[in-house]
Amino acid sequence: MHPLTYPGLLTALLSSLHLAAAHSIPFEPHKPTPNLVAGTWSVVTANITTNGTTAPAFGDHPTGILIFAPTFYFSELITVDTATLPRFASNNRADGTAAENAAVVAGTIGQIGNYTVASDGTFESDLIIASTFPNWIGLDRNMTALNETLEEGGRFMREMLHDAGTTTRVEILWERVGGWE
Ligand SMILES: *[C@@H]1O[C@H](CO)[C@@H](O)[C@H](O)[C@H]1NC(C)=O
Ligand SMILES: *[C@@H]1O[C@H](CO)[C@@H](O)[C@H](O)[C@H]1NC(C)=O
Ligand SMILES: *[C@@H]1O[C@H](CO)[C@@H](O)[C@H](O)[C@H]1NC(C)=O
Ligand SMILES: *[C@@H]1O[C@H](CO)[C@@H](O)[C@H](O)[C@H]1NC(C)=O
Ligand SMILES: *[C@@H]1O[C@H](CO)[C@@H](O)[C@H](O)[C@H]1NC(C)=O
Repeated sequence: MHPLTYPGLLTALLSSLHLAAAHSIPFEPHKPTPNLVAGTWSVVTANITTNGTTAPAFGDHPTGILIFAPTFYFSELITVDTATLPRFASNNRADGTAAENAAVVAGTIGQIGNYTVASDGTFESDLIIASTFPNWIGLDRNMTALNETLEEGGRFMREMLHDAGTTTRVEILWERVGGWE
């Protein structure tokens, strides 16, 4: 059935037009902000450079997904090779040994937050709402501290992270997965 022939919808449409006219709501065409970073991204490689020495940040086989949602929230988790994270002997997440807990903290990072894009749709800034590294909670980083640059027409995204006051630099190459939204 063609939607406009559906009587209920037509009535609803007419009454909303009437309502708009009655209140003189100006017509504002919806212009969605372009968002070139929205999508699902998977870690290809992640390196950390400290004092001029570069090493893999999450071992040789990092696992990580970063989702920039169209709602301008993001979610990110990166771990070392999942096979190398120690399973807890107790099988109870709240009852890890000191060594198990330390290995999990060292081998994982996760955060959620919101983000902005510039008027051309490229990454502009993000704000960390919660993180497994508490020092980053509330951190508001723009392209100076957190450079997310699209490459190859948006197939890849190179993340260059440099927190002020530190000499440490992290560079992560993300590849878009699972479509373009
Ligand atoms: C980097 O160099 C500084 C100053 O020499 C030193 O204090 C620090 O421990 C070094 N960090 C690493 C990870 O080697
Ligand atoms: C992100 O969330 C913070 C805290 O709720 C809010 O102040 C800020 O405006 C939000 N930024 C965006 C881009 O949504
Ligand atoms: C980026 O953040 C830095 C540090 O907070 C600030 O000094 C700088 O003005 C910001 N740049 C822009 C373009 O907002
Ligand atoms: C971000 O990184 C790209 C690629 O290295 C560079 O061209 C650009 O100038 C950087 N942007 C900022 C704000 O530092
Ligand atoms: C990380 O380092 C490896 C080895 O030098 C290199 O092949 C890879 O391109 C680097 N990745 C990033 C994101 O810099």
